[in-house]
Amino acid sequence: MMGNRSYRVAMTGTGAYLPPKILTNKDLEKMVDTTDEWIVKRTGIKERRIVESGVAASDLASKAALMALKDARVSPKDVQLIITSTITPDSLFPSTSCYVQQKIGATDAGAFDVLAACAGFIYALSIGQNYVRAGLDNVLVIGSECLSTVVDYEDRSTCILFGDGAGAILLQRMNGKGSPEVLSTFLGADGKYADVLGIPAGGSKIPSSSKSIKDRLHYIKFRGREVFKLAIQNLTKVMKKTIDSSGYKVDDFSMFILHQSNFRIIEATMERMNIPKEKAFLNIEKYGNTSSASIPIAIDEVKKSGKLKSGDLVLLAAFGGGLTWSSSVIRW
Ligand code: UT7
Repeated sequence: MMGNRSYRVAMTGTGAYLPPKILTNKDLEKMVDTTDEWIVKRTGIKERRIVESGVAASDLASKAALMALKDARVSPKDVQLIITSTITPDSLFPSTSCYVQQKIGATDAGAFDVLAACAGFIYALSIGQNYVRAGLDNVLVIGSECLSTVVDYEDRSTCILFGDGAGAILLQRMNGKGSPEVLSTFLGADGKYADVLGIPAGGSKIPSSSKSIKDRLHYIKFRGREVFKLAIQNLTKVMKKTIDSSGYKVDDFSMFILHQSNFRIIEATMERMNIPKEKAFLNIEKYGNTSSASIPIAIDEVKKSGKLKSGDLVLLAAFGGGLTWSSSVIRW
């Protein structure tokens, strides 16, 4: 299966699934001490989607994956590998990818998950890219999150930000049919800041107990202002590095798809990079921060919008808990 030569990598199919239930800022006003005005001004978010009780990350992921396969006209039986990025897996193990494998009928696929929080989709993409370069074909790369299941709806500083959703991309060897090509991926991390953003309990360090539940340690916690600054610093750093090593100039890029965390983080990063704000993709007002899912949902939306033409350069960049960051150059 693995060859000696390096193949070029194409995104031949995309799909996205957002659960139908909408949680608006007005709904949140009834749950915590906040206002629609504050949320819009500080984050750019108007509403987000949330799953019904009992719906898991693999359910959203499977729907997005089947759409990506349909888009590429590839049968689930021909998928060789499934890589899902998620911080809200169905269970600690087995992996969410194994549930997806069964749900979509990808009977010949290997399956595993990646955990790099909001930067995770590009981490997963880099793994998929390298498998395809090495000779594997039909690799499904998915970002799927049910963040509403780990959000504390009594904490106004976090609950306003997050939403649920999934996006999937099928990677195949480039066959000259004009699909977007993954030119490069770049990854970084700094564990020194591990405690600024995460879910403290439920792992081996703080196993689940009645105390961990009472202390609300199974929910997302962050130090918002610190994350905000670190996000802008590290996004700028990784974007510069990725562009410098690509051989292109910043002006050569038609669109910048940054992880949809907060429109102020995106705007400030664009400003620091001296890039016109209009080149930044934005859909945060509809979905909030969907962590791993935000980049593949955006790619699917851009593809369906027809805004880009063949040959346009796109930069993807993301930042998340870990800390982690990642970036990728795509030639549309
Ligand atoms: O993808 C990575 C994950 N994302 C993150 O980890 C979040 C990154 N951080 C952020 O996006 C922003 O820091 C937030 C949106 C979380 C907060 O915005 P901010 O402009 O940094 O606000 P702040 O935390 O400095 O709070 C300003 C004020 C405070 O009141 P005082 O101390 O000035 O009286 C907060 O208590 O706003 C208050 N506040 C709120 N007020 C109304 C905090 N949350 C809310 C709220 N509604 N939901």
